[in-house]
Amino acid sequence: MTKLPLALIIDDEPDILQLLGITLTRMGIDTLKAENLKQAYQHLNNNQFDICLTDMRLPDGDGLELVEYIQKNYPELPVALITAHGNMEIAIDAMKAGAFDFLSKPVDLSALRNLISSALKLNSPKQKLAKGSQKSKKLLIGDTPVMLQLKQTILKLSRSQAPVFINGESGTGKELVAKLIHYKGPRSECPFIPVNCGAIPSELMESEFFGHKKGSFTGSIQDKKGLFQLADGGTLFLDEIAELPLNMQVKLLRAIQEKSVRPVGGDSEIAVNVRILSASHNNLLELVENNEFRQDLFYRINVIELTVPPLRERVDDIPKLADYLMNQLSVLHGVENTYLSAAAIQRLKSYPFPGNIRELENILERAITLCLGEEIQVDDLNLGQFGNKTENLTTVSEDIPDQYHDAPTRDNLSLDDYLEKIESIEIINALKQSNGNKTQAAKLLGISFRAMRYKLKKLKIE
Ligand SMILES: Nc1ncnc2c1ncn2[C@@H]1O[C@H](COP(=O)(O)OP(=O)(O)OP(=O)(O)O)[C@@H](O)[C@H]1O
Ligand SMILES: [Mg+2]
Repeated sequence: MTKLPLALIIDDEPDILQLLGITLTRMGIDTLKAENLKQAYQHLNNNQFDICLTDMRLPDGDGLELVEYIQKNYPELPVALITAHGNMEIAIDAMKAGAFDFLSKPVDLSALRNLISSALKLNSPKQKLAKGSQKSKKLLIGDTPVMLQLKQTILKLSRSQAPVFINGESGTGKELVAKLIHYKGPRSECPFIPVNCGAIPSELMESEFFGHKKGSFTGSIQDKKGLFQLADGGTLFLDEIAELPLNMQVKLLRAIQEKSVRPVGGDSEIAVNVRILSASHNNLLELVENNEFRQDLFYRINVIELTVPPLRERVDDIPKLADYLMNQLSVLHGVENTYLSAAAIQRLKSYPFPGNIRELENILERAITLCLGEEIQVDDLNLGQFGNKTENLTTVSEDIPDQYHDAPTRDNLSLDDYLEKIESIEIINALKQSNGNKTQAAKLLGISFRAMRYKLKKLKIE
């Protein structure tokens, strides 16, 4: 016979202890009971538990102490706190201290069931296997101290149900971090649903999040599930959360607190079991201070805050990252032998990357398409003078060759847009001269056919 999972339950009220015990037994779980911290520590010492549920107030201490004790001595053991109804602050403190999740009194049975089943998945052999094979094939590259720290935090957070707010400049890898938290955790078999809060038109928002009933508004010809329901059992990743309009923030807060949603035009609530991760490049606290983001929602989603550092704070990771991205991109473009010259790597290391890893990806993709041989040179990176400490812009602008003096005026265009304008004119001229023959036009311009094709696509030239 296989061994049943074992739970440790701690509460100073014998009635509650008994009730929890019966409920868990019905779920096929063995229990040991304790009425105070001292008994709990003894049990922990003598047994190997799969989950621990503890009340907050105990005769010889509180549940938070137990959470901390378990974090320190049995970090693999998921512990959940049972709090008085509405006492969010304690629940949040507990999760910050490493609690797996919390339940409020009176304990709702379906919430208890969800909690137990997630907790038991944490240390199941299947979950351990899943960690190895990882569904999200993407890796978080980097072994500078800040990245090692980040990886460790991700692992820790993946074992908890706490809402995490991921902050960081654009392109730093916020979505990748959210995915890893999901795929390394007990929800990995259920969906990870990312949603860009800035991309949903405000009039559709409620129905997108919570679903709608057939006929609830013009055009709603059938029932539709919302994002919360689609993410049931899994994770909802609210990207660019600062973009949510205030009225939607209220509704979102309600759904998160009640763990249920009401579809537009529906007359009943539907329970959902969703972990909320969110991200923004904005400083949310500043938005709260300016009344642009609701404080109550902020505290609810920001139980744990994680900052993904900008690439310029992990310069030593650039060679590895570039190598990893090059491999992926060259497979994508069918040019598997392309590589970066040592000088090109050096050049990348001195560039400030305002757009972070996403920008590095773009730079490499462009270089792969533009380079003529297999080795990518500094010039193929097309980084201009930015961040190049050895030259400065004024001397360069004096060196601009004469033929460009007849070029179109820059007006209010950014440098990039201006250069694209010049490129477009030159390419169109070359195409005219060669009667639309791309190979010949490329020759006239001294670029490869591959580069020509790339530029035509990028500049949207028909
Ligand atoms: N450490 C890393 N290792 C490997 N790839 C990475 C790393 N960080 C980011 N990437 C890749 O860089 C790209 C940008 O990452 P991601 O979309 O997660 O950033 P983001 O912070 O969400 O950006 P944005 O602010 O633009 O939404 C993705 O293709 C991602 O896979
Ligand atoms: Mg993103």
